[in-house]
Amino acid sequence: MNDGLGFALIGCGDIGGLNARSIAEAEGARLVRLVDTNLDSARVLAERFDVAVSTPGRGATSPMEDALNDANVDAVFIATPHDLHASMVALAARAGKHVIVEKPIATNIRDAEAAIATCDECGVSLSVCHPRRYEEKIVRARALVEDGLVGRVLVTVSKFLKNKAPDYWSKAPWRSDRARSGGGVVIMNLVHHFDALQVITGQRLVEAVGLTNPLVDPAGVEEAAAVAARFDGGAVAALAACTTVPGKKVFEDEIYGEKGRLVVEKRSVRLQTNDSYVSGRPGQWTVFEFKEDSTSKRGFIESFVESVLASKPPPVPGSYGLDLLRIVSQVYDHSGTNPIALGEREP
Ligand SMILES: NC(=O)c1ccc[n+]([C@@H]2O[C@H](COP(=O)([O-])OP(=O)(O)OC[C@H]3O[C@@H](n4cnc5c(N)ncnc54)[C@H](O)[C@@H]3O)[C@@H](O)[C@H]2O)c1
Repeated sequence: MNDGLGFALIGCGDIGGLNARSIAEAEGARLVRLVDTNLDSARVLAERFDVAVSTPGRGATSPMEDALNDANVDAVFIATPHDLHASMVALAARAGKHVIVEKPIATNIRDAEAAIATCDECGVSLSVCHPRRYEEKIVRARALVEDGLVGRVLVTVSKFLKNKAPDYWSKAPWRSDRARSGGGVVIMNLVHHFDALQVITGQRLVEAVGLTNPLVDPAGVEEAAAVAARFDGGAVAALAACTTVPGKKVFEDEIYGEKGRLVVEKRSVRLQTNDSYVSGRPGQWTVFEFKEDSTSKRGFIESFVESVLASKPPPVPGSYGLDLLRIVSQVYDHSGTNPIALGEREP
């Protein structure tokens, strides 16, 4: 661990490039292995980052096992189809490796709990990759709420509206297979809004209900959702999402409080407050502009590394990922199709 924490990236698909770059650029981290059952995907990144590709052989039955056998690997970053997350977390933990796993931590509650327990037993750190808290605009929004500029938060409104290209589904068929993905736009996308809302408001979501509509082509998961949720601090949330809306992507969180309102957009945060703020008059909008985020994952990895080296809890512990999975599960429960609850059945 002298030259930093050595990482193996498990899963070199769509998000693999960003993950590899974020690890490679993160202070205190080294990218030492690339792992994918599709060796070509791993090789593409290997060329870009000059890193070894793991292959089965030399006593290993899979590329992942080969990486786990490498003493230079201190930690893994798992970015595979959702149904593989929990078992891969446990496998890495048993090999003594610290773990970052992309959301969701698992496709059902029972597997998530088991993965967390295995990491605890093995004494390794487990973090679920919710990096939005490292985006400059989220940091600013949180600070404005903490400074009391919107007052007590009463209600939040979030929108995720996008037109996912047909090849988003066809090139990775697991995404529209409910048993493999755990669901559609709620578990894939709205969960990042759940996370950001918790970070900005400082309140925890404790209850959610929802209605969903299925995707027509390919069938399997929901394309649209309307969710109502409650925070432990008393505020309520309304969220709308759809993956087949043409036009410009809408990705917004609005926070309304007793004294003012905040709108968090792709590249800006707008504040209207009854307190005089900066040079503005009460009621006037103040706009904070930001560059498009490309470094939040790096920030997330850097704090993970710091926490491991200091033997402290990681930035987004497994239990946080499990709490968000419970909220997602409540939405699906209410809407009548709950793949997350499949885990409640006997194996
Ligand atoms: N695509 C995005 O924009 C995005 C953004 C944020 C988070 N994520 C999350 O990242 C994860 C991966 O998503 P993706 O879009 O990159 O998926 P993907 O299907 O594009 O990539 C997954 C990769 O995992 C590999 N894989 C499958 N089984 C494997 C195994 N047993 N061992 C090693 N590799 C294996 C596949 O070959 C594939 O290359 C998911 O949890 C997703 O929610 C994706």
